[in-house]
Amino acid sequence: MDIVEAVKNFVEAECRKPESKYGYEPFIFHYAPMAKYAEKLADELKADKEVVLIASWLHDIGSIVYGRSDHHITGAKIAEEKLTELNYPAEKIELVKNCILNHRGSQQNNPQTLEEKIVADADAISNFDNIPGIFKAAFVYENLTQGEAKEATKTKLENKWNQLYFENSKKIIKPKYEAAMVILK
Ligand SMILES: [Fe+2]
Repeated sequence: MDIVEAVKNFVEAECRKPESKYGYEPFIFHYAPMAKYAEKLADELKADKEVVLIASWLHDIGSIVYGRSDHHITGAKIAEEKLTELNYPAEKIELVKNCILNHRGSQQNNPQTLEEKIVADADAISNFDNIPGIFKAAFVYENLTQGEAKEATKTKLENKWNQLYFENSKKIIKPKYEAAMVILK
């Protein structure tokens, strides 16, 4: 089986486990759109598509298994174990791990390589396909009021937009960004 497919299946199985921290929904509403954008950006920017896709499927695995705090660190560790088990080359595992370690815009990370920046951008723009999920997090996980949730969602989306590294990313998501800002004004 193709390595990307094997990794995707692993992540899907982890999301389906009853003990998975955020259930199955992120697989459909976050990881799948993110992988689609990551693939498009990797094509357009001529990056290592395999590394970008493996890292995209695995970028939140730490969050699924252990919860959000430090999930870039826990995720890189799980990725290393899983990819080693799948006989993925050690030097490529390092590239994937660096994408995971540097994907969180909120953590003052500093993505260096093209692949790391693409994973960060694909993660950010996938939020615009999952605005109901952002509200779910605000109400269910953070217990915000309706007004607070609206403000928090608007600020989150503005930050995601301002964080983007590539014009290609802005071009992909601009209509949804503008529509969201109209609705959340
Ligand atoms: Fe993510």
